[in-house]
Amino acid sequence: MDIKGLVEVKGLWKKFGGNEVLRGVDLRIMDGEIFVVIGRSGVGKSVLLKNLIGLMRPDRGEIYYKGREISRASQREWKKIRKEFAVVFQHSALFDSMNVEDNVEFGLKRMTRFSENEMRRRARECLSMVGLEGIENMKVSQLSGGMKKRVAIARAIALSPKVIFYDEPTTGLDPIMSSIITELIKRMNREVPSTSLIITHDLKFTFQAASTVAMLHHGRIIEVGKPEEMMRSENPIVKRFIEGTPE
Ligand SMILES: Nc1ncnc2c1ncn2[C@@H]1O[C@H](COP(=O)(O)OP(=O)(O)OP(=O)(O)O)[C@@H](O)[C@H]1O
Ligand SMILES: [Mg+2]
Repeated sequence: MDIKGLVEVKGLWKKFGGNEVLRGVDLRIMDGEIFVVIGRSGVGKSVLLKNLIGLMRPDRGEIYYKGREISRASQREWKKIRKEFAVVFQHSALFDSMNVEDNVEFGLKRMTRFSENEMRRRARECLSMVGLEGIENMKVSQLSGGMKKRVAIARAIALSPKVIFYDEPTTGLDPIMSSIITELIKRMNREVPSTSLIITHDLKFTFQAASTVAMLHHGRIIEVGKPEEMMRSENPIVKRFIEGTPE
């Protein structure tokens, strides 16, 4: 088997009843990349992401991480894999009942043997990396959407993940906060250092951040390339998506 990517997907199928959402998805994500999957709303981007992080099992196909097939790995194996994966969910998925620091420490508490002091130090370090100092004791409910996103990123990087997955990181943010999050994702990619896999329909984000772009359409990846190649694509579906022309 010819597996060159850090994360590689081969022939992934997933259906719900008669709804065939993924119909043979292939992806190759190289170490250190910012890999962006674009596609229209409802095309199956979140389903793809859930399969990659083990929240859903594919009907068919394989997912490789560091050359090992993981989609059928045991619970115990997934526990190890999850230490190297981090996810920033669309709505940040923070715990409203906890303050900011406890949210950032959540993974550290479960996955490490850090002392209270070490955890606090690491949480503060991560919050400072995302430009949030001095808000450790704030409640999640007191934060704006952009701050929540940054806290979610701080929580994601706390365990120094190898791969960070983002579901729609800029959706619902104002243009300035979008740019801040875009730059932050690029910086985290370099500084953690990690590989980033992002699913989005935000083209501005895509063209500013991606090293590789793949377009998901009708259950398959119909085109992959560098942002500038995608912009020049002759594929009518890719062109329409980029231009925002209805079918
Ligand atoms: N757990 C589930 N059970 C049944 N159908 C599901 C489930 N999860 C997703 N689907 C279906 O899969 C399809 C793709 O959904 P998905 O959430 O992946 O879209 P998306 O590309 O992420 O859209 P958006 O850009 O709006 O977030 C939809 O038709 C949805 O109804
Ligand atoms: Mg989605």
